Parts: sequence; C-alpha cells; structure tokens
Amino acid sequence: MPPAPSLPGTTDRRLAALLTLLSENATIIISGGRIAREIGVSRSTVWRWVQRLRELGVRVKGRPATGYFLETVPDILTPDLLRKRLRGSLFGRRSYHFFKTDSTNRIAMELGYADEPEGAVILAEEQTGGRGRGGRSWHSERGTGIYVTLLLRPRLAPVHAPLLTMLAGLSTRSAIEAQTGLGVTLKWPNDLLLEGLKVGGILTEMHAEPNLVRFVVVGIGVNVNQEKFPTELSRVATSLRLASGRAQSRLEILVRLLSQFENDYNRFLREGPPYVVARFQSETDFASGRRVRVDTGMESYFGTSSGLSPEGLLQVKKEDGQMMTVIAGDVTEVR
Ligand code: BTN
Repeated sequence: MPPAPSLPGTTDRRLAALLTLLSENATIIISGGRIAREIGVSRSTVWRWVQRLRELGVRVKGRPATGYFLETVPDILTPDLLRKRLRGSLFGRRSYHFFKTDSTNRIAMELGYADEPEGAVILAEEQTGGRGRGGRSWHSERGTGIYVTLLLRPRLAPVHAPLLTMLAGLSTRSAIEAQTGLGVTLKWPNDLLLEGLKVGGILTEMHAEPNLVRFVVVGIGVNVNQEKFPTELSRVATSLRLASGRAQSRLEILVRLLSQFENDYNRFLREGPPYVVARFQSETDFASGRRVRVDTGMESYFGTSSGLSPEGLLQVKKEDGQMMTVIAGDVTEVR
C-alpha cells in the first residue's frame, strides 16, 4: 500500500496522540514532561497544543507547572481511536482527520484521483462547505455531527453507483437504531428521518468512464448532538440528541456505521443490485403506495410511489396513469 499522503489541514499525528494520551488517562493529571516524552515534542509545544485543543472546544484542565488532565473524555473522532476499534476491517486501514475543512467529499475526490486505496475514511469535526444533494449545503457545526466520507473502488457499472447511496442509507439507519433505540425512516434515495425531520443524508459522487466506475466517494452526514439548528433548518432538521433527550456518542455510532457498511457493501458486491433493491424496499414504506410530489428541477408532478426499478430508481405512477422513473430530483410525500 502506498504511504498515506500528508494533506494540508489534516490533524497532526502528534496532536492526535496528545488527545489519545489525555483521553486514556482522563481525570488523571499527567505532567507536561511525561506528555512531552511520550509524544516526542518539547514541553513548550505541549503547552501550545493544549491551547489549540482548548480553542477547538476540548476541555483540558491544568497548567504547565502542575500538568494537564481532561475533565471528560471528548467525543472526538481521532484516527487512533478509530483504527483501534476497526482493526482488521476495510475502514480501519487509513483515515484522515480534520478539525476543520471545507468538505470531506471534496477531499475524498482528491484522494481518489491521487490513487488512494479503497477504504480510506475522511472525517471532519467541522465543515465550512459541507455539500448536500441538489447543490445544497450541509450544516456541519463543530463537534456535534458525524461528517464522514468513504472512498470505494467497486467494479461496478456507473448506472449501479446510486445503489451505494441507498446502501449507505440502510447501514446508517441500522447503526443509529442499534446505538440509540430510535426508529429511523428511510426516504428514497438518501434521507434519514426521525418523525418527518431530517437527521442524516448521503451524498455519493464518482469518477467513472462510460462503462466502469473508477472510484466512488460516499459522504455521510448525521446530526448527532446538535441542540438547535439555524432558523432556516429548525423546521426540517433534528438530531439524535433532540429526539432521544440525551447526548449520543459519535464514536460509537461511527464505529457501528462503518462495520455495518462494510458487511452490507461486501454483500452487495457478492449478490449484486437485487440485494440492495429488495432490502431498501423492505426497510422503507415510502417506495410504494405513497402520494408524492416529484420536483426534477425541469418539471414537477404528483403521483403514487410504485416500487423501485432494478437500478434502484423510484417509479412513480402519475395521476394520468403514466409510469415515470425518477432519476434525480426531490420527492416529497403529500397528504
Ligand atoms: C443530503 O443532502 O442529504 C446529503 C448530505 C451529505 C452530507 C455529508 S457530510 C460528509 C460529506 N461531506 C460533504 O461535503 N457532504 C457529505
């Protein structure tokens, strides 16, 4: 495997090591000298990094003279922690962590073009240009959501790539339900809803030749611990914390999500599109019998959802009886 490129903005490995050291010894005071020895930097660097962690919202207590400790273990998704939990799995090999970046999908695309191997995980604590479907942006407040992109190199025809979006939706739903006990609804093709409000979404982008996918990046956003949303989102979005009434561990959800997605992805590669289509149909009640409005950007019409095509596209029977296949656009349930 080629060595991991050092990307501008990735979290310094030694800064991550400092965080791990403090987390593994939470509430115990560790002297600046010991930290400096263990991670191989000077005591003044330790001090500067402690300041930096504080700026990033990590609650490090203490002073150079006494040593440092964490009041509570921060829920930060550092590559060290992730690698430990995902040892031996496809997504436990290489991860790139950013405290702040524009978009993990953008970085994953860049890595894809640079021959990064399949399985790379790109994570951010905050995104300044998070991308959503249909050219929308994805609200990515610091440290509260999961903002992750996976790089895949499946041998797949481009026409089947959207199935990966649906697959990621299925895996994310299972992971959230297993970790929180909440019941998540899947809306074709990529929405995860809690009581009608959006709690997560998937944005898949790819680089393909006419008949073969070169690589696909699957970007997953989950609203985990947001306590409120900007006004324009407050009526359409929710978080796991708001829905369950308690803070949730981003790390636990992410670990479950990546393990679940690896299983689901392998099964898709073995069994092909029918596996995803059948599973999606059985796990959403949105794909058939719902009155919907379809907005493609070019036109909008009403109809009844009537199952999925073999490629996973939604079929909608218009009011005049004509059957439509929705390739792209927004589908909303109307009552
Ligand atoms: C949607 O509109 O429902 C899709 C949202 C996808 C958001 C995620 S967050 C991680 C990844 N990076 C991005 O810029 N977007 C995706």
